Amino acid sequence: MTKRILLALLLLGANMAASLAQPFSKTVVSPNKSIQATLILNEKGEASYKIRFQGKDVIGQSRLGLRLRGYDLTTGLKRISDSKSSEKNSWKPVWGEVDEIKNEYKTITLKLVSAEGLRFDIVFRVYDDGVGFRYEFPKKDKTSEIVVLDELTEFQMTADYTALWAPSDWDSNEHTYTKSKISEIDATKHLTDIEPFVQHITNVHAVQTPVTLQGQSGFCMSIADAALVDYGAMHLEFDRTTRTFKSFIIPTADSTVKSINKLPFHTPWRAILLSPDAGGLLTNHLILNLNEPCKIKGDLSWIKPQKYVGIWWELHVGKSGWNYLDKDGKPTGKHGATTENVKHYIDFAAQNGFAGVLVEGWFEGWEDWFNVMRPEIFEFTKPYPDYDISEISRYAKEKGVKIIVHNETGSAIRSYERQMDAAYDYYLKYGFNAIKTGYVGFIQPKGEWHDGQEMINHYNEVLRRTAEKHIMVVAHEPVRPSGLQRTWPNFMASEAARGQEFNAWSKGNDPSHELSLIFTRLLGGPMDYTPGIFQMELNQFDKAKKDRVRTTVAKQLALYVTLYSPVQMAADLPENYEKRSDVFQFIRDVPTDWSDTKILNAAIGDYVTTARRQKNSDNWFIGSMTDETPRQFKAKLDFLDAGKNYEATIYEDGKDAHYLDNPYPVNIRKLNVRKGQTLAINLADGGGCAISIKAVK
Ligand code: NOJ
Ligand code: CA
Repeated sequence: MTKRILLALLLLGANMAASLAQPFSKTVVSPNKSIQATLILNEKGEASYKIRFQGKDVIGQSRLGLRLRGYDLTTGLKRISDSKSSEKNSWKPVWGEVDEIKNEYKTITLKLVSAEGLRFDIVFRVYDDGVGFRYEFPKKDKTSEIVVLDELTEFQMTADYTALWAPSDWDSNEHTYTKSKISEIDATKHLTDIEPFVQHITNVHAVQTPVTLQGQSGFCMSIADAALVDYGAMHLEFDRTTRTFKSFIIPTADSTVKSINKLPFHTPWRAILLSPDAGGLLTNHLILNLNEPCKIKGDLSWIKPQKYVGIWWELHVGKSGWNYLDKDGKPTGKHGATTENVKHYIDFAAQNGFAGVLVEGWFEGWEDWFNVMRPEIFEFTKPYPDYDISEISRYAKEKGVKIIVHNETGSAIRSYERQMDAAYDYYLKYGFNAIKTGYVGFIQPKGEWHDGQEMINHYNEVLRRTAEKHIMVVAHEPVRPSGLQRTWPNFMASEAARGQEFNAWSKGNDPSHELSLIFTRLLGGPMDYTPGIFQMELNQFDKAKKDRVRTTVAKQLALYVTLYSPVQMAADLPENYEKRSDVFQFIRDVPTDWSDTKILNAAIGDYVTTARRQKNSDNWFIGSMTDETPRQFKAKLDFLDAGKNYEATIYEDGKDAHYLDNPYPVNIRKLNVRKGQTLAINLADGGGCAISIKAVK
């Protein structure tokens, strides 16, 4: 054997040894020791993890990794180093369900290098209420850009949990929810009775996130995106053979590419919310804690939690229309956003203490907009001739009310991006500092998806640009929220699910719908659901209309407390409120910003009773609601301050109330109460109960 061959053999041996990674396994335990996350690297250089909660494996050993163009981060990985650290502090949200949030966790960072020499980290944070992890590419390395072809993160379910899920649609999240065993997840049924206008469902065993799971013991887990920035949304494909949810990132227009990112870069957090029971899921702050602190500097007093009314429901029930002209180019005579009508809503808002009036259909482009969706459709600074914006601005100022400016984009996002700076300046000139965006229809340019990276960047760009200009945002049809309201507190709410509007023109929302929303979609952030409908049959203006709202009136009141948002609409028409001013009093009274929240009882998709303390006040409000099953509860008022007297006003389902054929009776009664007392709550089928508890001097 020549020296050369010997040397070559020696080098080969050294390489082989180097390609076998040193197996690695380290466990991080949450501050209160209830959660353990173990990070593993096997001898083939494959990364994985598992999660234990309260002494039980809740996520079995599950794969981690990404496939990038030119780099395989799923195998052949080598550990450079690992380190542990911890954090303990708290922070105060600008608005929210509580006034202070504890942020305490332990971290493990595993520094790795791929076979091709690309460095990256896997970072796990273990909190008392869940686990977050992500992939980080800390600095410019062998490359300045990475192209993600696939994320291979998995979540192996250790039992056939019950899941509350909605189908994975790349383009719409306005679907109904189903409760089933995970092994029975199947969107075939949704495909037959689906109503959203845009759908792109490629895998009937896949779900959107957040998806919520419950084990036999009652423990609950939800899997979600946190801080979804510059990346497609994570959906989950369920593999029945391995009982595993596999992440599926919604692609870019190039279906082989999930995302393109400049270094430094990190993926969104994969958040696993954990709670011993259903109620705990509703006070879980993991998603918010995984988001970056507020990025808006200086005075934030322009950000105002508020209630609003508006020219909205009347458009959906056919009293008036968005468009000014008819098909023949003549005024319809039914246009909703007229100066006179807006003034009527301004008066109603001012009389009842609402800060905002939403106006839809005020700018050019609504003529047959739904059928003629095209890349340039709306003109965001061109009011219709019967909308006198200066006069409306003057009148609104006089009455101390602000217009919430509607910006339906028809998903023509390039056109909106070109117009938005000029549009925002134009609105500010008139004193309007809140917008409602909308993304109805297919994304134009074609090929992008509502949940894909391009659109995620668009939604975030709107938040940045409006924050700079001190404008609040409510977004309709964006991706589901991922806690970004912590970073951008001007992001007041989004729809991002099937809202109240579906009751006006579809088979509607069934009585469990809002109870599904709070345990899934709402976990990522507030929802502009638009509660407060008093007139349940929707044939007031069109006798042929069969649509109806399937809740009792008392349940509509309860939604103001149970379905959290810092902006809440009183969605029905002023005339419908004027007819029931005693019941409307609850909507007048209920605030939208809270210093504390207690869940008195809860079952996923079935019922909830929520008590919240008004910010800077001694007053409390309770909302309780049920699905189609009537229920009786006892609410113990042990959260009230000792020694104080309170007056409770109870708005409950009246005699024989029923969501289908008798939704209207509301019984209103008053009681003096003190800490420790118990209130009886009786909920009708599809019913609810709303209670204001005011401290008495
Ligand atoms: C759908 C939105 O959810 C709704 O609120 C709005 O009225 C219509 N699009 C028109 O923009
Ligand atoms: Ca919508």
